[in-house]
Amino acid sequence: KICCSLFLLVLFALIASLASAAQTHYHNFVFPGPTVEARNGDSLVIKVVNAAKYNISIHWHGLRMLRNPWADGPSYVTQCPIKPGGSYTYRFTIVNQEGTLWWHAHTGFLRATVYGALIIHPKMGSPYPFPTPRREFPILLGEWFDRDPMLLLRQAQFTGAAPNVSVAYTINGQPGDLYRCSSQETARILVDAGETILLRIINSALNQELFFGIANHMMTVVGTDAAYTKPFPTRVLTIGPGQTINVLVTTNQPPGRYYMAARAYQTAQNAAFDNTTTTAILEYRSASRSNKNRPILPVLPAFNDTATATAFTTGLRGLSRIQVFTKVDVSLYFIVGLGLINCTNPNSPRCQGPNGTRFTASMNNVSFILPRTTSLMQAYYQRIPGVFTTDFPPVPPVQFNYTGSVPRGLWTPSPGTKLYKLKYGSRVQIVLQDTSIVTTEEHPMHIHGFHFFVVGSGFGNFNPAMDPANFNLVDPPVRNTIGTPPGGWVAIRFLADNPGIWFVHCHIDSHLNWGLATAFLVENGVGPSQSVIPPPIDLPPC
Ligand code: C2O
Repeated sequence: KICCSLFLLVLFALIASLASAAQTHYHNFVFPGPTVEARNGDSLVIKVVNAAKYNISIHWHGLRMLRNPWADGPSYVTQCPIKPGGSYTYRFTIVNQEGTLWWHAHTGFLRATVYGALIIHPKMGSPYPFPTPRREFPILLGEWFDRDPMLLLRQAQFTGAAPNVSVAYTINGQPGDLYRCSSQETARILVDAGETILLRIINSALNQELFFGIANHMMTVVGTDAAYTKPFPTRVLTIGPGQTINVLVTTNQPPGRYYMAARAYQTAQNAAFDNTTTTAILEYRSASRSNKNRPILPVLPAFNDTATATAFTTGLRGLSRIQVFTKVDVSLYFIVGLGLINCTNPNSPRCQGPNGTRFTASMNNVSFILPRTTSLMQAYYQRIPGVFTTDFPPVPPVQFNYTGSVPRGLWTPSPGTKLYKLKYGSRVQIVLQDTSIVTTEEHPMHIHGFHFFVVGSGFGNFNPAMDPANFNLVDPPVRNTIGTPPGGWVAIRFLADNPGIWFVHCHIDSHLNWGLATAFLVENGVGPSQSVIPPPIDLPPC
């Protein structure tokens, strides 16, 4: 039976939506955690009490947190974690964002079980850019582990070997009845025939990109990562950890029960590929007893069907009111990938990678190390020296055929706490380039404090002379997390209009914890105390 591992955190959230002066107390002891619902323009006050046995902090994934990095949440980046028994009150305002986001623990592997949906409705009286759906449902895709996530993290970090893959994927916390012994644990949504519903799909899995589909029903994508898209009809969608996708579904099929299902796209760890499928049920209220039998399964692509994944991701078009800029001030080229470190004692149990090595991961050959005694943001604000440097390389320090067969001598990154400084207001382009170091796989890259236009992508190595000619500067989709295609590249653009320190990382948690990260320090020249709000008095002590 898949259930009943420890539940890590009790989250006592008090939301005060100042705009409507409404106050809501959310119940806890639920999994996934409570759905936070607000409107564009609302100010939120959320008190998080740590009732777990581990340090923890909460990240509001995708919210811009303008001039307010103190509310962003990643441990040792913008705050020190909340200690067991401690609390911290996150205060922030939602500015010009609408759609689906989510919140999750941002300490070690704790987001494996500590996460929930964050829904931003339009301002009162302001409509969606599509016909208003009759009902809305959050659909949280996740992974279930039969062990304490922090022990899995230790296994990944100390031994450097791939952490145990999950024992099941889940939808809204339930594995679904295709797993043995979980027939009672299948999420179900009830619909009427002939209505249109909105599904807010969130990939909260720790380490896995997923395909998702609904038997016999078309989905029309209308939003990604809290930004609207042009309507995009599809039978299957691809969603990486961190991403959200809003779809409209019209219940135009014979009344009955239909599976909504998700299963792996790509592999986080090639060696331990999990080929299982999680299901939830879309059930028509009018279905008779006889057509409530076994639901029909959607046809989902094979785990290595990169063509289908690419067709979906590159088919999306944005519906942004903001035009993407054509002139770029800062052009960055970041290579991402795994790596191997030679162990000093290859016989040590901490050394379980191939041929006496440990796994690591890097961007531009730097494997990111978080500080341990303070956060990057506090070090910056209080001018504490020696915590980080700002010499993250804007281009790879060594040029080679990134997606070819990479010489073994280039497999070893150097550790460091290197940030990249961006001038406030600069127009930034980043090309994220996958590498075939150790293995070729997709890396869902996330940037805190910003969302960005996805202007182009391709396979092989990015060609600066040819590829920009094909960039979409007309209607690119807006995202906060984008997959670097396996053996390929993706180009993004954003305006550096948010001062502070913002984490940049792969949203596959094992890669993040192996060092696939850096951070932007966005500075306007007047110093942090003039550009960001002062830290709240209850910011957790380090
Ligand atoms: Cu949702 Cu730094 O992550």
